[in-house]
Amino acid sequence: MNARLTKGKGAGDLYRCVCRLMSTHENPFGIKGEKRTKDDLQRERMSRGLPKKLPIPGVKYVVVVASGKGGVGKSTTAVNLALGLAANNPKSQVGLLDADIHGPSIPCMMNLQGQPELNKQNLMKPLMNFGIKCMSMGFLVDDKQAIVWRGPMVMSAVQKLLRQVTWGPLDYLVVDMPPGTGDTQLSLSQNIPISGALIVSTPQDIALLDARRGAEMFHKVDVPVLGLVQNMSVYICPKCGHAEHIFGQDGASTIASDMGLDILGDVPLHICIREGSDQGQPVVVSKPQSSQALVYKQIAAQVTEKLSTMAPIDQSSPQNKDKT
Ligand SMILES: Nc1ncnc2c1ncn2[C@@H]1O[C@H](COP(=O)(O)OP(=O)(O)O)[C@@H](O)[C@H]1O
Ligand SMILES: [Mg+2]
Repeated sequence: MNARLTKGKGAGDLYRCVCRLMSTHENPFGIKGEKRTKDDLQRERMSRGLPKKLPIPGVKYVVVVASGKGGVGKSTTAVNLALGLAANNPKSQVGLLDADIHGPSIPCMMNLQGQPELNKQNLMKPLMNFGIKCMSMGFLVDDKQAIVWRGPMVMSAVQKLLRQVTWGPLDYLVVDMPPGTGDTQLSLSQNIPISGALIVSTPQDIALLDARRGAEMFHKVDVPVLGLVQNMSVYICPKCGHAEHIFGQDGASTIASDMGLDILGDVPLHICIREGSDQGQPVVVSKPQSSQALVYKQIAAQVTEKLSTMAPIDQSSPQNKDKT
């Protein structure tokens, strides 16, 4: 029987038919029999059995700030990007979601403490500072408590931060991602439509390799990459003005041209950025006219420009969405 199937003319058809019936989707042919690429197969495998992506009510654009590596400045970039978007577009409403479940930074960087209030529908109201609506795991657990959770618990926490919060109405929701390409990244990109991803990297080779991995992951889950932010690319000595490229120079431009991505900004290594983050006074609000703040505002302006060519994710009337 087997011999006849593999040799016979109809064996390919039968194989495809069985694959379809069993819904394994592993057959290397499409419905019409065309050969599919390895990428097509992988994308299909990753999306198998996944929930349908649902927009967050009242949220027009979702931008995730990611990298393959920790400590490269994602949270700092996410915070200053959110503030830059709000500063550039004074009529817009901006939110900031801290999706780093194991290591939340937003409460400290945005100078926010306390637990969110609940509304009548038992949804959490975001905490607000500098005009930005914020939500973080850090508001829900004791800040000295270690969050030792496995993948499924992390994924359910991400779901709660997306769905059980009165986010709308928002023009932009900026999401500060944890490092890597793990459960949170997949959970987010599979649950909500994401307008675009911003990849943060230092110009160091190792960080750039991880940045490339991060960008590839978003490509695989069909999230457009808006561009790269090169962080800590240059240190300018405050005494003599000498510029030192501590983590190397121009690494990001090689990767950006290799992958066909834009570099949206070069953020210098500067003490006012570090101090601003640690003290809960981000540079875009504490030193709005500084050259460092201007870099973030320029990045925000490019993000706005790129998003303006895309359809908003949720276009329904904001008034209907504000359940607070
Ligand atoms: N451009 C910069 N200049 C100076 N310090 C920076 C800069 N970007 C980030 N930092 C500091 O580096 C550390 C790590 O940044 P963070 O944003 O928490 O990284 P990540 O979220 O990628 O782990 C923080 O102490 C932050 O203040
Ligand atoms: Mg972080």
